[in-house]
Amino acid sequence: MADIIGGVFTSHVPAIGNAIAKQRQQDPYWKPFFDGFVPVRRWLAERAPDVAVVFSNDHGLNFFLDKMPTFAVGAAAEYRNGDEGWGLPVYAPFPGAQALSWHIIDSLVADEFDITTCQEMLLDHAISIPFELCWPGGGPRPVKIVPVSINTVQHPLPSPKRCLALGRAVGRALQAWGGAEKIVIFGTGGLSHQLEGKRAGFINKDYDRFCMDHLASDPDAMTRHSALDIVELAGSQGVEILNWIAARGALGETAVEISRNYHIPISNTAAATMLLETAETARRGERLEVEAFVG
Ligand code: DHB
Ligand code: FE
Repeated sequence: MADIIGGVFTSHVPAIGNAIAKQRQQDPYWKPFFDGFVPVRRWLAERAPDVAVVFSNDHGLNFFLDKMPTFAVGAAAEYRNGDEGWGLPVYAPFPGAQALSWHIIDSLVADEFDITTCQEMLLDHAISIPFELCWPGGGPRPVKIVPVSINTVQHPLPSPKRCLALGRAVGRALQAWGGAEKIVIFGTGGLSHQLEGKRAGFINKDYDRFCMDHLASDPDAMTRHSALDIVELAGSQGVEILNWIAARGALGETAVEISRNYHIPISNTAAATMLLETAETARRGERLEVEAFVG
């Protein structure tokens, strides 16, 4: 049985990639954000996961407004990184956990999730930035990846309830996997932000805090809003919180918050980072003394 050890939840603002490329991590603008990754990197180094199942949204590299799968799962042996126009460094390809991908796909379809299967998928900043924050240096990463893409872009969007159910179904698939891999779950995007239109620059601290306060203990509370309510509450890109909701579902019923960071703004975004550990991992009594960081 695979071991789901925990989850990393983070914003994926492209400007972070440029700050990394220019080594701005200690600049006053950037430091409060980058500092939130110190406990995350320490936890990852200690826990040493083998596989990352990553819930994120595509920003136009694979799917455009003409063809938009609600849920798509990668099933490739390798994923190339691409830049859809931010001028970001393009990193080496990401190795895929291909057999596990097919197992998840089989299990999701048996569970009546009508997903799109992608034997080729480009990975954009929604994955390359979180990975660069977790495993800096652009070198080979210690994890193989299963990317799960959620439509947070083209209406109609999936409901938060459906995203949580998808995540829980992925979690059940992982529980049933025969391998011995240690698995970390990622949810990327958010928190509140809106890039375009009259509300460009919109941020909602109250809703962001509501999400962070319920993520570990009561993710079902985050399904009380519809996807359109969330567009209203968090902005048209803040609805990327759907990726967090799905990722939380994959962690199982109970999860323990290890660290969080919240910093406004990074570019147009209320930037947040949270690290959760599954109850199972926490129970083993190996809880790390990572410094909780609340921005
Ligand atoms: C920004 C945030 C995003 O989530 C994204 O995908 C692109 C840009 C931003 O705040 O600049
Ligand atoms: Fe985004």
